[in-house]
Amino acid sequence: MKKAIIIGATSGIGYALGKLLLEKGFHVGMCGRRTGLLNDLKKEYGGRLHVQKLDLSDTAKSIKGVAGLIKKMDGMDLLVVSSGVGFLNHEMDLKKEMDTISINVAGFTAMANAAVKYFEKKCSGHIAAISSIAAVRGGSESPAYNASKAYMSSYMEGLRQRMSRRGAEIYVTDIQPGFVNTAMAKGDGLFWVAPPEKAARQIFRAIQKRKTHVYITRRWRLIAWLLKIAPAFIYDRF
Ligand SMILES: NC(=O)c1ccc[n+]([C@@H]2O[C@H](COP(=O)([O-])OP(=O)(O)OC[C@H]3O[C@@H](n4cnc5c(N)ncnc54)[C@H](OP(=O)(O)O)[C@@H]3O)[C@@H](O)[C@H]2O)c1
Repeated sequence: MKKAIIIGATSGIGYALGKLLLEKGFHVGMCGRRTGLLNDLKKEYGGRLHVQKLDLSDTAKSIKGVAGLIKKMDGMDLLVVSSGVGFLNHEMDLKKEMDTISINVAGFTAMANAAVKYFEKKCSGHIAAISSIAAVRGGSESPAYNASKAYMSSYMEGLRQRMSRRGAEIYVTDIQPGFVNTAMAKGDGLFWVAPPEKAARQIFRAIQKRKTHVYITRRWRLIAWLLKIAPAFIYDRF
């Protein structure tokens, strides 16, 4: 029986993915601060769902929390980091920028590091994390958010290279969504907004196929390509 732990599974994409994995027969550890939101799932999936309260702003406690959860579940095959925060930050409020770095950079790194250490001991495993299409270029609405997502994607590439050099059977999947209909999708002019359930299905398929990278939904590949080729003098006007 496969065992997955999802960090940031109390709502949105992480919740939809957790529910899908439970439907597929996985044992699932679902983490976040608002664990009360998982009560209904707990009633439905009782023994296969393990809930862990975890606040990534305290990395030391979070690492302990995940270690405890792995013990409780008697192992882990897959770790998904879906936690994240993002703010529209026109006023350049420093606290918002620092909170973004705390959760999306430091918190993510702590979780990825815990997974690397666990999987390297076990000589197998899979790490996946939800970065964003925002990783492709900087963003004026929320500079720290785009930068944090670029960090995540680059970090995952580094992990993948590490595993390849060691010949380790540990897979790393970088997931880059466009817009998904959750509390995180903020601002005007949203388009191609996917339901979280559809995003979860595509993420699950990418993990099953051990893909190194996936856009969610797939059509966002086109936007990523346009963003990458746009010269700075055009990009900077938008
Ligand atoms: N929705 C989009 O359009 C979109 C697009 C691209 C990328 N993404 C990325 O997708 C990921 C999931 O976001 P979502 O769209 O599903 O939004 P969401 O519903 O707001 O989910 C965010 C998750 O992160 C968790 N989280 C936030 N702060 C945390 C903390 N301090 N400690 C532990 N967990 C924390 C939340 O749990 P608690 O609040 O319960 O702690 C929640 O489960 C994020 O990384 C986001 O950047 C989203």
